[in-house]
Amino acid sequence: MSLFKGKNITVEIYGESHSEKIGVNVTGFPEFKMNYEKLFSFLERRRPSSGVFSTKRKESDVPEFFGVKDGEISGDFSAEIKNSDTRSVDYSNLYGKPRPSHADYAWHKRDGTLDFSGGGRFSGRLTAPLCVAGGIAKQYLETLGIQVEGYVSSVGKIFSKSYKDGKISAEEILKNREGDFPSLDKKEEMLSLIKDTFLAGDSVGGKVECIIFGLKAGIGDNLFGGLEGKISSLVYAVPAVKGVEFGDGFKLSESLGSTANDELYYDDDGNICFYSNRSGGINGGISNGNDITLSVAFRPTPSIRLKQRTVDLVNGCNTEIEIKGRHDACIVPRAVPCVESAVALAVLDEILNNKK
Ligand SMILES: Cc1cc2nc3c(=O)[nH]c(=O)nc-3n(C[C@H](O)[C@H](O)[C@H](O)COP(=O)(O)O)c2cc1C
Repeated sequence: MSLFKGKNITVEIYGESHSEKIGVNVTGFPEFKMNYEKLFSFLERRRPSSGVFSTKRKESDVPEFFGVKDGEISGDFSAEIKNSDTRSVDYSNLYGKPRPSHADYAWHKRDGTLDFSGGGRFSGRLTAPLCVAGGIAKQYLETLGIQVEGYVSSVGKIFSKSYKDGKISAEEILKNREGDFPSLDKKEEMLSLIKDTFLAGDSVGGKVECIIFGLKAGIGDNLFGGLEGKISSLVYAVPAVKGVEFGDGFKLSESLGSTANDELYYDDDGNICFYSNRSGGINGGISNGNDITLSVAFRPTPSIRLKQRTVDLVNGCNTEIEIKGRHDACIVPRAVPCVESAVALAVLDEILNNKK
């Protein structure tokens, strides 16, 4: 069980990759009627695609809701998803042999486990219930005019067009999501790199860029109450996330103040605007009214078919493993709704706190 205890909502995710079911319990959600169809198509974006490079594990991911009637939510609700396509046999040769850079060894040190089947509670499968809660939070935010949208901005060293090249609208992201790959361009190149990597028995990482459109200025607080910290702490809940940056992020450390600052002006209607958005829409931990932009780095999928060195914890010796289970060669496309979910839940919790 993993618990996010926000200022206003709590989100508790339970279950394991190969347990009978996984699920989520949410408390403190505002009164709201969700759209099931919209939620199901959101969840569909997280499911493995049928491509040769994606995990062959097939789950329907249809949640059963408790505390929700005809889509009506009033405070607390739960959702459960059955695991039907588990295959622990794929892991029989891995007993006591941690997969390099998966959670296995750290998990063993924490809980003493030697059976790493399916990755247990550290599996990417647990992002299904995260997306149930996050998908509903995203819908609620839309009723307030706030839109959270992401796309794949890079796979390996192939970089697509991104917000950093110039402002992008939510409509443009949605339009480009249609089809078989959720990036703004370079889709064919990205797909072909993933396919080649899969065929080589390897995996590749990449980045998801996520934009929060329509969040008014003044949300967040200083120091420990900062919006960047709040958002990134939830984004880091998504397995395989290894970096989060806002705006121009690390690149700002190479800039001068004169080229890094976002200068302000009044437009013809008297609204305060910015000439640029290098800070990513947050200053002093508080939203400044600009779009909030974050870039999230995903490591390559740890489970690869290529032979790797590891240890045999049962016999206390060095060994090698070849992983036969079903794994994505690149999890980045499926991770887009996971990032959107984490961001939406963080923003929702802050919005409820700041609702005036
Ligand atoms: C949607 C999604 C699917 C994932 N699928 C796999 C997978 O098939 N095989 C694998 O080794 N890791 C997969 N991962 C990543 C691991 O769960 C993750 O790398 C592992 O728990 C270690 O955590 P860390 O990389 O954050 O340190 C997936 C992650 C996500 C978000």
